[in-house]
Amino acid sequence: MNIDQTNLPKHIAIILDGNGRWAKKRFLPRTMGHRKGAFNIRDIAGICNSLGIEYLTMFCFSTENWKRPKEEVKYLMETPIRYYKKYKEKIWNSTMKIKFIGRRDRISSTLKAVMEEIEEKTKDHTGLVLTLCVDYGSYDELTTAMKEIATLVKENKIEIEDITPALIEDHLFTKDYPKLDLLIRTSGEIRISNYLLWQLGYAELYFTDCYWPDFNEKELEKALLSYQSRKRRYGGINENQ
Ligand code: IPE
Ligand code: MG
Repeated sequence: MNIDQTNLPKHIAIILDGNGRWAKKRFLPRTMGHRKGAFNIRDIAGICNSLGIEYLTMFCFSTENWKRPKEEVKYLMETPIRYYKKYKEKIWNSTMKIKFIGRRDRISSTLKAVMEEIEEKTKDHTGLVLTLCVDYGSYDELTTAMKEIATLVKENKIEIEDITPALIEDHLFTKDYPKLDLLIRTSGEIRISNYLLWQLGYAELYFTDCYWPDFNEKELEKALLSYQSRKRRYGGINENQ
């Protein structure tokens, strides 16, 4: 990859989109797009891991995706289970630390158990932290955080003045994660879709028409080159301006 190794984003998030359209274009059922998309999560995570990216956070299933046809929801929900059954050893032997964020009260107990097992088995891994967002939505995450903080105030554990951005971050799923540097969305949609709304505060945004199953090393390189061409000022000015 023709990129500057000294200026890599520490934390990348991806809204993986376009699985359905990828399949439709090939006269395949949508589920085949999700199948290819799942393998691509593995491939792109592997590339990020070798590049030395520290955190990769992927939007796999949103709090709104339950509205999809029952069969599609079932396929998506069973994907991690199927994948884990087949590739357990690969996950255990990789250096990646895998985490899941999102609601855990609406998913099946089988999926929940698989998630917990993957997290447990990879918790001491020191490579890329790969976070898979399942039944995740920012409105839900922020509402939960606000409820927790309100409870602390009500129980006189903190004062209203103690509510700072840092305290709010401590109540998000991404507590202890570094700031998000780069958000990538595939498939040509230019929106955020209730993803990491707080965390996106100063992230660089990259949108590509490429469908997720086609998003390969070359496409990742393009996203990273775009990131490296940005001047991040965080509301300040550059010294040479
Ligand atoms: C993204 O692909 C995968 C998930 C949200 C699970 P889509 O399924 O949204 O694909 P399109 O947008 O219909 O092409
Ligand atoms: Mg979509």
